[in-house]
Amino acid sequence: QTRFRVDQMLANRHILVTAGPTHEPIDPVRYIANRSSGKQGYAIAAALAEMGAKVTLVSGPVLAQTPPGVTRIDVETAQEMANAVATALPADAAVMVAAVGDWRVETADQKLKKGDTSPTLQLSENPDILALLAASPHRPKLVVGFAAETERVIEHATAKRLRKGADWIVANDVSGDVMGGADNTVHLITPDGIEDWARMPKDQVARKLAERIAHAL
Ligand code: CTP
Ligand code: CA
Repeated sequence: QTRFRVDQMLANRHILVTAGPTHEPIDPVRYIANRSSGKQGYAIAAALAEMGAKVTLVSGPVLAQTPPGVTRIDVETAQEMANAVATALPADAAVMVAAVGDWRVETADQKLKKGDTSPTLQLSENPDILALLAASPHRPKLVVGFAAETERVIEHATAKRLRKGADWIVANDVSGDVMGGADNTVHLITPDGIEDWARMPKDQVARKLAERIAHAL
């Protein structure tokens, strides 16, 4: 009879987690951001550390406390997040929970001033950190992405898994009060199919996912 000690299942594993939003500066005093609170990503980092993993948490700007035993690297922009992720490798697994800003702004050196016309923001697409990681020569054995969707959740998330080269995608419907809220309703999409998980607190989603990761590694 085997008894797994939950606090040791991920001993000697290095797991990279991204969390939070990014801030994309417009000028020295303004930025574009999103509603990510970092709660789900921080809960996942905490759950992995509780199972004995060495966790590197690359975090956008959030108010959350760093979980015990987690090494946190703070970044602001998507480009900084991409660099921090590359620097943190190698890792046995990566869980990309961050709500990465899809576009960066052509940043003004000085504060924009009001005038006769409103400024036009020039946007360019940010690097896809998850897709780059999945295609990298240092690819972790298990690459897990998240897909925040407001409609056709499974369809969009399934397409994302394939397009980005992730092993698993955790799909969540963010049309309600998920962003910033305490609960999450997710679907785990793997090569074996789709699992619908009941609505539960984000830290329970985190523990369930961490256990799945432990079994996969
Ligand atoms: N992601 C990333 N780098 C980006 C954009 C997204 O690493 N520049 C990651 C997220 O951390 C998440 C997954 O990709 O794990 C899906 O993010 P999402 O925003 O849902 O997908 P996008 O490809 O950006 O598509 P869209 O926002 O248009 O739905
Ligand atoms: Ca996006």
